[in-house]
Amino acid sequence: MTGRPNSLAARDVASLIHPYTNLDKHKTDGPLVIARGEGVYVYDETGKRYLEGMAGLWSTSLGFSEPRLVEAARRQMEQLPTYHIFNSRSTEPSIEAAEELLKIVPKGLGKVLFANSGSEANDQAAKIVWFYNNALGRPRKKRIIGRVRGYHGITVFSGSMTGLAANHVEWDLPVGGILRTDCPSHYLYGRPGESEAQFVDRLVANLEDMIIREGPDTIGAFIAEPVNGAGGVIVPPADYFPRIQQVLRKYDVLMIADEVICGFGRTGEMFGCDTFGIEPDIMTVAKALSSAYLPISATIISDTIAETITAHAGKVGNFAHGFTYAGHPVAAAVALETLRIYKERDIVSQVKALAPHLQSRLRALGSHPLVGEARGVGLIGALQLVADKATRRPLPPAEGIGALIQQGAMARGVIVRAGPDAVFVCPPLIITAEQIDEMMDAVAAALDEAHAVAEQRGLLGRAQSAAG
Ligand SMILES: Cc1ncc(COP(=O)(O)O)c(C=O)c1O
Repeated sequence: MTGRPNSLAARDVASLIHPYTNLDKHKTDGPLVIARGEGVYVYDETGKRYLEGMAGLWSTSLGFSEPRLVEAARRQMEQLPTYHIFNSRSTEPSIEAAEELLKIVPKGLGKVLFANSGSEANDQAAKIVWFYNNALGRPRKKRIIGRVRGYHGITVFSGSMTGLAANHVEWDLPVGGILRTDCPSHYLYGRPGESEAQFVDRLVANLEDMIIREGPDTIGAFIAEPVNGAGGVIVPPADYFPRIQQVLRKYDVLMIADEVICGFGRTGEMFGCDTFGIEPDIMTVAKALSSAYLPISATIISDTIAETITAHAGKVGNFAHGFTYAGHPVAAAVALETLRIYKERDIVSQVKALAPHLQSRLRALGSHPLVGEARGVGLIGALQLVADKATRRPLPPAEGIGALIQQGAMARGVIVRAGPDAVFVCPPLIITAEQIDEMMDAVAAALDEAHAVAEQRGLLGRAQSAAG
């Protein structure tokens, strides 16, 4: 599969370790080498075209050929290709990008700390919680509550806040200082006969019980994605976040909103916080901040936190934290141009206009025999795969039915992501209604194909209860 000895594929296998890849299988399967992009499409080295139904890694909001972003990078490269913002130095793009961000973030947020990735932004958020509580003389109020199925990245602490077994088993994570609470999927975790309202009551009570049991003076923050991404595109019940936030306020626990996927229009408002009624104390953004053209992320903190840590840094003599490339002028210039494009093209209205079409195409597949639940909001969605709709029994992961769906879509020129129990779509925000049809037609055909295979292998129906 990896072709001639000097092919890119063979050289890849000889030289690279790939993130999130079965490395052993990769030795024989080789890579898909993407050579160029245009709009919502990418082309592999043979010239085959794919509609990028995942916007890369939930990130390339403006597609793969936005000339203004290229020009912004080129201009900045010529003027000042690199500098830092340590030790009171600054650059115009980092100042302007911070100002533009602060114009659109939820109220109460007042200062920006740049970083380079979602993981770093979340790590930085945790460190700010620690520094802040040290400033307030609360040295014990440091633990962070993450959620089952949360994804916050893979660095040592972000990976610990992440609530997915694959990121922990074999990696000696989580480290200490983390508590874990429920995932708000009524479909996956609701009890038999439990209404959605009762489900939310239970989750809110569980959170409050945990805080009381563990001691509010030991808990600094709660971190959540408005819509979980990698953990399953979980869309929470409408009153989930407002109710959770009441509990957090009662015990003086900060709310960290991880907007790394949801930020910048994805859910049909500028931020997932706006869609779901979250009033964050700290918000992290990455990915679509620069349409993923260059690595840049940010941790945006409330005025209160900013004032407190500023005074504390004054007292200890230094704010001894920061990444070499934080606020890198070229990445910041591209982020600034991206934010300007969102504003000029009214990206939020564009998403609002197209979301009903994507969501209705997804919901239509809810009746497919392999689909237990079709869910989503804005321009993100998922199909939960089941062996049996009535009992919600999952498919045996080892059968690779999700992977089959992914391959079936790719054979039709569409990239979506499929795990063992769900298929995800998260296209560039510039997608058109026709392109949504192109994407969803391929997904529907791939589902039918995978269903035939599952049926042939005898995987479907109630019979195989052992697998559930
Ligand atoms: C919600 C969320 N937070 C954090 C991250 C980590 O970002 P990065 O891969 O840039 O470190 C991701 C990555 O997919 C994410 O989806």
